Amino acid sequence: MNSTELITGIGELTTQVESTSPRERLHDAALVVGDGRILWIGPAARAPAADHRTDVDGRAVLPGWVDTHTHLVFGGDRSAEFEARMAGQAYAAGGINTTVAATRAATEDQLVATAQRLRHEAEGQGTTFLETRTGYGLDVASEARSARAAASVADVVTFLGAHIVPAGMGRRTYLDLVTGPMLQAVLPYVQFIDAFCERGAFDVEETREVLLAGRAAGLGLRVHGNQLGFSGGVRLAAELGALSVDHCNYLEPADIDALAAGATVVTLLPACDLSTRQPFPPARRLLDAGVTIALATNCNPGTSYTTSMPYCVATAVLQMGLTVGEAVWAATRGAARSLGRDRGTDAIGSLFVGGRADLQVLNAPSISHLAYRVGVPLTGAVWRQGVRVAPMP
Ligand code: NIG
Repeated sequence: MNSTELITGIGELTTQVESTSPRERLHDAALVVGDGRILWIGPAARAPAADHRTDVDGRAVLPGWVDTHTHLVFGGDRSAEFEARMAGQAYAAGGINTTVAATRAATEDQLVATAQRLRHEAEGQGTTFLETRTGYGLDVASEARSARAAASVADVVTFLGAHIVPAGMGRRTYLDLVTGPMLQAVLPYVQFIDAFCERGAFDVEETREVLLAGRAAGLGLRVHGNQLGFSGGVRLAAELGALSVDHCNYLEPADIDALAAGATVVTLLPACDLSTRQPFPPARRLLDAGVTIALATNCNPGTSYTTSMPYCVATAVLQMGLTVGEAVWAATRGAARSLGRDRGTDAIGSLFVGGRADLQVLNAPSISHLAYRVGVPLTGAVWRQGVRVAPMP
């Protein structure tokens, strides 16, 4: 065993060991970390000796954030489009073409450098597990390059060849590409497949075709559904048993019933909702119906250019009606569930003996401060698999 570290003086420890909703916060706790794992958790007064000791002096400790929806592999910038939107212009899926052109023009090194910079930025705000996706290449070589870049930066990667039909391509020709050679080219780098089921992107049957091709190739399913209207994406995600359906701004009662009857997680993206001026999803109704909710940043240059999970947690509490405990659970264990990673020894998003030492200290005595002191950077220190990643020692 390499050296062990005792983290003691924890004012409030949120473990997320409850599998449905947040209940327990321990006080005056300590934990011991070694070889990337948690070796011990308990009252500080009974903590065993370790090689090193870090006293967090009454601060709150919780699992690192699990950000399950980002698009970090891109070139260019869309701040002008954002500014026009804030002046009243509506968001449309077609803006994706701008980033596709800039992404194709960038070198792979540039793409990796941008994604790494954003990952580092996220880590500095407590994110210890990160998904990212392709979707700005949209030809075989560019998607393969994006997937390779993504895999070099993120923990898990999603193939989003079905983001839009790129300019100058026929729909049928493109779908054949996405479900055929493009899928084969990205397979070494990806674990999930996604499709944007929306007016201006892909309809329900096209989305089904893409997802089934991905499933046949061994990938887990994720869906961009009902972001800009009643697209049918949510119902399809529930029908196919997708791990996650993301956005969900427009939901009919039958959509909520379908979600409640299955196990698909709804991933809420509050920063995107604000940046596109879309109505917030009915988060409270979803929770009350028994649907599992995750929170993610959706970091991308078009609709949500933030890596800040604390901002998403605060917005979920202050504007979407979640309690602090529900929002923090959604950003950790709920998010882990949407990746199929909330159980077993390789689980993420919760702190338990034998599990990964992915954790963060807040410069605050309680997780309530994440919303109570909204806008104030509260991340104190972050450990990823037992290694301090922020601030660097
Ligand atoms: O999740 N909705 C589709 N994809 C991204 C936006 C992409 C873009 O506009 O560049 C999203 O919001």
